[in-house]
Amino acid sequence: MHKLGVRTAVQRLNATRRYTAKSTKQTRRTGLKVILCFFVPYTGYALYVFISTNYEITRRERQLTNKDDLDFNNTLIKYSPHQVLGRFENPFNEYRIQTVYEFFFNRIVELFETNRGGVPRSKAQMDELMPIHKPFWEENRDNKEVRNEIVCEMKDFNSDEKVVGSEPIQHLSCTWLGQSCSVVVLDRLKILTDPLFSTFLIHPTVGPKRITDMPSKIENVPTPDLILVSHNHPDHIDENSLKFWGDDHPQKPLWIVPKGLATFMISNNVSNFIELSWWESCHLKIKGDHENNVYQISSTPAMHWSGRSVLDANRSLWCSFIVHKGNKPVLFHAGDTGFVHDLYKRIVKKYGSGVQLALLPCGQYCPEWHQRPRHINSAEVMEIMNDLNAQTVLGIHWGTFLLSGEYFREPKEKLEFLSEFNGLKERCFCPELGKTLDFSQGS
Ligand SMILES: *[C@@H]1O[C@H](CO)[C@@H](O)[C@H](O)[C@H]1NC(C)=O
Ligand SMILES: *[C@@H]1O[C@H](CO)[C@@H](O)[C@H](O)[C@H]1NC(C)=O
Ligand SMILES: *[C@@H]1O[C@H](CO)[C@@H](O)[C@H](O)[C@H]1NC(C)=O
Repeated sequence: MHKLGVRTAVQRLNATRRYTAKSTKQTRRTGLKVILCFFVPYTGYALYVFISTNYEITRRERQLTNKDDLDFNNTLIKYSPHQVLGRFENPFNEYRIQTVYEFFFNRIVELFETNRGGVPRSKAQMDELMPIHKPFWEENRDNKEVRNEIVCEMKDFNSDEKVVGSEPIQHLSCTWLGQSCSVVVLDRLKILTDPLFSTFLIHPTVGPKRITDMPSKIENVPTPDLILVSHNHPDHIDENSLKFWGDDHPQKPLWIVPKGLATFMISNNVSNFIELSWWESCHLKIKGDHENNVYQISSTPAMHWSGRSVLDANRSLWCSFIVHKGNKPVLFHAGDTGFVHDLYKRIVKKYGSGVQLALLPCGQYCPEWHQRPRHINSAEVMEIMNDLNAQTVLGIHWGTFLLSGEYFREPKEKLEFLSEFNGLKERCFCPELGKTLDFSQGS
């Protein structure tokens, strides 16, 4: 009996050993498969993207008659969208491509950061640091206006006053709702930028969770005439907005989205949209307005990337928008971008200087080695303000989620310090959540 027991035990042990050896071998084989099926092709792909993009940048530069000539023909050569194997890539000298290795390496480094973002534990302290206001529409809910009837067609940008008018804007206001989501009212036109009405960016179990509450529920926001989307990242276009303002909405707002996003919009049941590529425009008229009361919406380049997963990375373009009423630049919505030294000078050359309101991102710049190619810092905000000759700048894209290493209020503090130092305190600052700011001339 005892002997038998020992023999069985030895047999079992041997079996386990064989099993372990087998499973180690299997693990090794799987590891090898992953390396062969993913890492090798991916590294080859990344290398190919890197080389061919650099080649393209050099080729374009050689085509320019004079590198510093800001003429629009040159701009088109230099900064037209660039695609490699069906995916958009940044055609900018300032860009350094990001690989999944860098992306995940940085995510791992983040795990070891203590007190990331420095958000206070106490709600009272947080409320003091980040006051949240009720937007004007919350006070006056019965007054919820209906969406205007609009006609919109794709057409080249036109600066001819006789065709598009030159009436000054009577009313201009902006309400920041977090990240790059704002409601901008330009006379009768209601614009919503980069809609975001989610508490969790990815998923309730994965997070990340908002650090500041939404100033307004999506149901309470006045129906926009127009929704501008700068690029397909979850913090610039979320599922709740797609669902709410898509085909099921009785008034179906018009979405203007970057080139390449059509499939995504249709699969989310949004059919009232227009795709714009860099330097393309559409002309919009509100029914009942004067004949040459034209709003022009133009897509301009940005240095960023797009995608919600590895599969759809860069399948659609990223951009900024400049909105004109008549031939006057009124609103610049920068989306997400890194700094390109001559880009904003070129935008001004084509679309005119002195935009009334520029919404510029000013957060998510730490660590610099990782974020720099895709996000601007406070000093670069000031440079863009100067290049655009913007009358007012609001620094946004901070204080909503912790997506980077800096103290969560640092973007605001740095930008406001710099603007005060430069004597621009009244014209360049960070808004408070939900507070409606009126920029109507004379107000
Ligand atoms: C730019 O290109 C257009 C069309 O190709 C041409 O008519 C125009 O003269 C060019 N402008 C300059 C400044 O070269
Ligand atoms: C997406 O584009 C960005 C910017 O050019 C680049 O850093 C990244 O490597 C690209 N990703 C893919 C999968 O092409
Ligand atoms: C789109 O609409 C169809 C039909 O009503 C529905 O089955 C589907 O779930 C919707 N898709 C999304 C992403 O909401």
